[in-house]
Amino acid sequence: MSDGTFYITTPIYYPNGEPHLGHAYTTICADAVARFHRLAGDRTWLLTGTDQHGQKMDNTAKELGVEPATLADEMTAKFKGYFAEIGISNDDFIHTRQPRHVEAVTKMVEQLQANGDVYSGSYSGWYDEGEEAFVTETDAKANDYKSEVSGRPLVKYEEPTYFFKLGKYVPKLVEHIEANPGFIQPDSRRNKILQDLKDLDKIGDLSITRSSLKWGTPMPGDAGHVLYVWVDALPNYYTALDSDDKREAFWPADVHLIGKEILWFHTVYWPCILMSLGLPLPKQVYAHGWWTSEGRKMSKSLGNFVGLSELREVTERFGLDAVRYYMLRAAPFGSDLDWQRDELTRAYTELANVVGNGLNRVLKMTGKYRDGVVPSRDGATPQDEELLQASNALGDEVAEAWTELRLQDAVTLPVELARKMNAYIDQTEPFKLAKDESQSARLDAVLATATAALYQTLVALLPVLPSKAAAGLEQLGVETADRTFDDLRQSAPTAGHQLGAGSPLFPRLD
Ligand code: ME8
Ligand code: MG
Repeated sequence: MSDGTFYITTPIYYPNGEPHLGHAYTTICADAVARFHRLAGDRTWLLTGTDQHGQKMDNTAKELGVEPATLADEMTAKFKGYFAEIGISNDDFIHTRQPRHVEAVTKMVEQLQANGDVYSGSYSGWYDEGEEAFVTETDAKANDYKSEVSGRPLVKYEEPTYFFKLGKYVPKLVEHIEANPGFIQPDSRRNKILQDLKDLDKIGDLSITRSSLKWGTPMPGDAGHVLYVWVDALPNYYTALDSDDKREAFWPADVHLIGKEILWFHTVYWPCILMSLGLPLPKQVYAHGWWTSEGRKMSKSLGNFVGLSELREVTERFGLDAVRYYMLRAAPFGSDLDWQRDELTRAYTELANVVGNGLNRVLKMTGKYRDGVVPSRDGATPQDEELLQASNALGDEVAEAWTELRLQDAVTLPVELARKMNAYIDQTEPFKLAKDESQSARLDAVLATATAALYQTLVALLPVLPSKAAAGLEQLGVETADRTFDDLRQSAPTAGHQLGAGSPLFPRLD
């Protein structure tokens, strides 16, 4: 799958409020995946940003009594600042009022016009202002004229608009989806999109401008209209590649990582626009699940909303890496997730007991019995070989999990190996071997094998625990900077390697 480059994007978020759990989650997942690819040696690009236009931004600004531009600037600074605070390794940050975006998106729409794919008319129908989505009469009625996502009343729009000939591209799109099972993931969500695409009612042409809204990028050639916010926003993935070199290296994107509620926009509107422009389609759109909180929909009025202050509080308490681990481990990737403080504590305790404690045991015993020098594995028994084989296999298993976006597997497989390593120590009882001079070679093999297992665990955890795994490896006397995954995997400490000093990776919580 890898051609030596890797481009992954997050949605660009509406800066109509502060970032919350959902935004942190997608961005952390994308960051971990990007870190894996960088480690694997791919030239990698991680893009995130904010989506500043649209009715929802305009409505929120009005409610707050500020200009939409002021709100957008202030909240965009919060998103940017928060992502920096949690060490997101994004290579770029786009927002839709940046001149590079406005210029490029204008050119793209001009191109759609030049292709004869745009005509003027008028839109009359339902609109979900929270989701910035047109809703068909059938769907509106089925939902009691309320938003499927927020439950708020839909709004009736009736206004002059320009349409994009979406319907013209739908047969080709369906063909593409059917021929490329990886294009929309997970499978269940692909099937739903295919089903909806066969529902002609849903796929008339697309209204791409608003004439009753002033807050937006002007429609080229008609300043009385602004672009529909999704037509403004989706192209960000392409407009952010603002040089020939970047476009050549990174387009088409490898993955658009998004939440499940915006899959339709990404797998219908965006590919049809790209087809009209003659540009290659992204290789994959992956829709992950939604977070609830302690069993219920996150909401400020229920008091279970996981916003910036709670995110900061848990990061303070458990550390950034443990919070990342918790999020990726919380459910098979793609499924819905539930924020539970108990589970956060459990995830931390697991890291502390299994990984931190395992490291501590290896360092302590090797320190005590062998002056911290890794001994020889000569005379390894089948029991040792079994653990060693599991250790050497981990890298491939984890690489495959990251590549296939099985993020839960990617982060739990290394911890399972550390668990095996702890059981192995319990069974081989090095503290007893140490008391018997005739068992000295046996003790050597046990210590060396345990060290190798813990080493592979830590290497495999680097994408999700960037600072803790690197700190653990440093305790093993291993430098990680500027080294690839393969290099690290293949250079487990051998006989004669001096281990470093230990200190608890995941200290006891008070
Ligand atoms: O939709 N659980 O922006 P947005 C999981 N601007 N993920 C969640 C979540 C939750 N409860 N809540 C939010 C937009 N997210 C558009 C996108 S892209 C060209 C334009 C995450 O601020 C998830 O990634 O509403 C979701 O898709 C995104 O935030 C929506 O962010
Ligand atoms: Mg949303």
